[in-house]
Amino acid sequence: MKIGIDLLHFATADYYLGLDTFAAEKNLDVDKFYIGIGQEKMSIAPPDEDVVTLAAKAAAPILDQIDRNDITAVLFATETGVDQSKSAGVFLHGLLNLSKRCRVVEFKHACYAGAAALQMATTMIRANPKEKILVIAADIAKYDVDTSAEATQGCGAVAMLMTESPRIIEIEIGSGYFTDDVMDFWRPNHRTTALVDGKYSTKVYLNSLKQTWEHFTEQTGKTFEDIDYFCYHIPFTKMADKAHQTLIRKTGANVTPDEFKAQTLPSQRYNRIIGNSYSASLFISFISLLDHIEDNIENKRVSFFSYGSGCVAEFFTGVMQPGYQSLLMTDRHLEKIAQRTALTYAQYLAFYHPSEASEENIVYEPTNRGGYRLAGIENHKRDYQRTSDE
Ligand code: CAA
Repeated sequence: MKIGIDLLHFATADYYLGLDTFAAEKNLDVDKFYIGIGQEKMSIAPPDEDVVTLAAKAAAPILDQIDRNDITAVLFATETGVDQSKSAGVFLHGLLNLSKRCRVVEFKHACYAGAAALQMATTMIRANPKEKILVIAADIAKYDVDTSAEATQGCGAVAMLMTESPRIIEIEIGSGYFTDDVMDFWRPNHRTTALVDGKYSTKVYLNSLKQTWEHFTEQTGKTFEDIDYFCYHIPFTKMADKAHQTLIRKTGANVTPDEFKAQTLPSQRYNRIIGNSYSASLFISFISLLDHIEDNIENKRVSFFSYGSGCVAEFFTGVMQPGYQSLLMTDRHLEKIAQRTALTYAQYLAFYHPSEASEENIVYEPTNRGGYRLAGIENHKRDYQRTSDE
């Protein structure tokens, strides 16, 4: 039985901060960002955007193509959830008017949770092939102002419909995984911004890649040469380059510069202009590959490396399905990205780092476009609205 992704779509915020604007504000050389970390822009969520509204924008175009009553479960991966008890997926379930005969749960482990939710979905479908599961990976990456991590913020949400006989990619059985209790990145409950030991986090990421690769090859017998395209978790695109170099060194693979580019660059293009989106980042990388590769990659094998600080990591693969190209929503992705509005540094601060003392009662100005918004909070209860027929 083949199990995998039948449809997928992503959404990001309607606003961005250019790293040229950022560099000018901080009096830094812009090449530190364009070349040094490989980033150009960061998507910035306004106050009436959160992981629920981003997820709704990601999922709506998928639900328009199927009977939404067929969804049997929503597995919502996020490390920037909106409530300590109620799952973000239940807010989403209401907003999207899904069937009450549905299970909904939130998954968390830093940027890894999206991969965990995807693997859980494959297991549930193997047990009951009638399941049609909506896997969501959605996050808003936020660090303190005036830290070196501030240049690696961003946001996005990916929605993936997981089914039997998938039309886009079959997720293959067998993966390599790795857990180690380390403090490279974390966000205590009282904070809205993450804390990070930046240089250390990049080392732990690369070590986790080596560990998961070893386990993956033991589990599957596959080699580097069995994989055609490599998608990585991308906190910033230079990290994916370093990851691919590390894997090549570890496996002793013989890869020319042109092959290196072909294997990894198409999957970096969206992330370069969106920024980090934590749990969504790996899957935006996969969509970037599909939307930018010129060749038809039917029957080709794609690898996925998920890294969640703290840390949990997994390496797994999938095989592209015949006819997948007709199901891609490339034009929609490109159009939404092109329509984003540039922010000044001061506007970014007001949107992303507002100084709100209380979340008891707030009414938000309508700033976010695209169909779903957080209208306000009343008596600590979040009020979401559908704003158009998008
Ligand atoms: N022109 C070209 N390159 C330049 C440059 C210039 N003018 N100025 C600097 N650079 C280069 C540097 O040489 C360096 O290159 P190498 O990494 O190849 O050595 C690179 O730009 C970065 O510059 P710095 O070494 O000065 O690093 P920094 O202090 O700006 O910090 C960072 C970079 C650690 C990534 C920081 O942005 C950060 O902490 N980010 C958040 C943490 C993170 O993303 N970690 C990734 C792994 S953890 C993970 O993946 C989970 C997750 O999503 C968070």
